[in-house]
Amino acid sequence: MQHLTTEHLYPHNIERAADILKRGGVVAVPTETVYGLAARIDNDEALRNVFAAKGRPSDNPLIVHCASIEQLATLVQMTPSALRLADACMPGPLTLVLEAAVPISEVVTAGLPTVAVRVPANDVLRRLIDLVGVPLAAPSANVSGRPSPTTAAHVMEDLAGRIDAVMDGGPCRHGMESTVVDCRSVPVVLLRPGAIPASKIEHVLGHNVRRAMGSEEGSPGMRHRHYAPTASIRLVESMAEMRQALDDAHVTRTRLCGIVPVAESLYADLRAADALNVEQILVLCDHTVQADEVLWNRLRKAIES
Ligand code: TXA
Ligand code: MG
Repeated sequence: MQHLTTEHLYPHNIERAADILKRGGVVAVPTETVYGLAARIDNDEALRNVFAAKGRPSDNPLIVHCASIEQLATLVQMTPSALRLADACMPGPLTLVLEAAVPISEVVTAGLPTVAVRVPANDVLRRLIDLVGVPLAAPSANVSGRPSPTTAAHVMEDLAGRIDAVMDGGPCRHGMESTVVDCRSVPVVLLRPGAIPASKIEHVLGHNVRRAMGSEEGSPGMRHRHYAPTASIRLVESMAEMRQALDDAHVTRTRLCGIVPVAESLYADLRAADALNVEQILVLCDHTVQADEVLWNRLRKAIES
């Protein structure tokens, strides 16, 4: 898997990126959530290279990215809930888990009878999928366990020399992964909170979502080590506690930094803290943060790992 160079491409090089993907290469692509590591869904060798480059466990299935709702609907058995959510939220940061309507590679599904699908809101990526002519499977473009990448530089930090190219589309707008919803049953099941709030889904469907129970029912990915920087994370409950900890660190000569977490920049901030080579990252975790389902979910995962 070790290449000499990873090409750094820009939207005006889109034909080049399409060419690499068509021939079975692996390209990191911008989305509105985080960068994804893409391969065509009909080439098992390319798909395996995605897992290898990330060091991703093979029991963790990939999300399939489509250019349009029409293309998405050729892959899965749409349900009434799925149709309504697609209509209201796509293109956008929402992933639907549904029964497959056509055979999908087991490398993508990890052998599950379901497949996760979404239509990204990033225009460059949708044009790229159109040019390739086949949907693209893409997990986040980080080394497994690291914070998701929200810029092309983050992707290079983790994967330079291990992938064919990165398409640089600038920083990701949401900076947080898509919301994953199992739409096979009513009520629908929230498998991973994400950029689209659960309240929006409930508003569209007119019923409350059910939260996945524990790690067994959630997305397979939620069981794995996740979102962790190299430095340890310590949650503090107030700015006063943070200030005190920073003062103490001055005395004990411990290298610390503090983060006030915001969904759009959490991953970028954790990576920036690592780049400063600190031993510990203090993260403010007051009532507002704990009430934010997505932030709290990611912070918990980052601490547990
Ligand atoms: O915003 C996003 O969703 C980004 C961008 C690149 O699209 N992708 C992303 O992929 O976050 P990844 O692989 O880091 O997370 C995908 C999640 C994992 O938790 C995985 O277990 C879950 O989706 N997933 C995939 N297929 C599934 C399925 N058939 N059933 C349940 N969960 C599934
Ligand atoms: Mg990921």
